[in-house]
Amino acid sequence: MDIEIRQATIEDVPEITTLFRDTVREVNSKDYSDKQIQTWSAGANDTEKWEERVNRFYFLVAETNDTIVGFAYLKNGNYFDGLFVHKDYQRQGIASKLLRIIESKVMMDGFDEIKSDVSITALPFFEDHYYDVIKKQKKVLKGMSFENYIVSKQL
Ligand SMILES: CC(C)(COP(=O)(O)OP(=O)(O)OC[C@H]1O[C@@H](n2cnc3c(N)ncnc32)[C@H](O)[C@@H]1OP(=O)(O)O)[C@@H](O)C(=O)NCCC(=O)NCCS
Repeated sequence: MDIEIRQATIEDVPEITTLFRDTVREVNSKDYSDKQIQTWSAGANDTEKWEERVNRFYFLVAETNDTIVGFAYLKNGNYFDGLFVHKDYQRQGIASKLLRIIESKVMMDGFDEIKSDVSITALPFFEDHYYDVIKKQKKVLKGMSFENYIVSKQL
């Protein structure tokens, strides 16, 4: 499979939010309750917030045959805030490709560490890429508590 990685544009937002909603519902649902998944996936409806992320952050999409199959974005230089792969393209190396470019960007910007907070679902992926768990935490989103992990890696 030929995967192209490029920076996202505003025109990508509808595809990005659909991917986000479907992946949370289909993939993260194995680790979180129905109510948590409902609250989390509803974030897809906040188009303005996604447009702002695309405009303000280093925001990448992975594409194959004109279909967006993954996305990743960096916030505040070395805070890796989002990584999602299309539900039908899991375990094909797409997140690893995105991660490599994100980490290069962080290094080029002069940081020696990258940080993130990651879902229960994504933790095995990050551990596989040499991230250390700093702590397990509860993050509150729209009044709903989510268990996740703060992770970091020295670059
Ligand atoms: C986590 C996620 C981004 C990984 O994407 P991916 O493209 O499937 O990952 P890759 O194919 O690059 O994975 C590379 C390696 O990471 C590890 N890995 C990835 N997903 C894993 C899983 N669910 N369980 C165990 N190991 C996993 C494996 O070692 C894998 O290599 P392998 O497939 O040869 O065994 C994807 O599963 C996803 O979108 N999850 C839901 C969204 C999410 O929780 N994002 C993080 C939000 S904070």
